[in-house]
Amino acid sequence: METVYITRRERFNSAHKLFREDWSIKKNNEVFGKCSNQNWHGHNYILFVTVKGVPNPETGFIINLKTLSKIINKEIIEELDHRNMNLDVPFLKGVIPSTENVVIKIWNRIVGPISDAGGDLAKIKLFETENNFVEYFGGREPF
Ligand code: NI
Repeated sequence: METVYITRRERFNSAHKLFREDWSIKKNNEVFGKCSNQNWHGHNYILFVTVKGVPNPETGFIINLKTLSKIINKEIIEELDHRNMNLDVPFLKGVIPSTENVVIKIWNRIVGPISDAGGDLAKIKLFETENNFVEYFGGREPF
């Protein structure tokens, strides 16, 4: 089978802080550093959503990228862009908004709609900074 991976990139800006209320400010500082800043800080996130499949013989597509972009925008970008991850985003409620946790929540939110559109979600990559990113394969081994 000629499996191909296709990726759509989207961007959003969000504020957050990494902080545990059950820890002292000192301990939060030691563990989370600058990211524990009481008055929030923001990141310019870059999200890569990868779908795998065999190109449809009629269209040559694995998934229509317009459809994929629509799903990501509706489910993720509209929820996160210019929002505070700790306060404003229902699907992140009760979660420390580390890049690791956020990427799992993003997966769980779009895997269904992508599947409904005939796509097989393979990977999500999320850049928090130029130098730091995480990848998630839905809890499966990647290859
Ligand atoms: Ni941060």
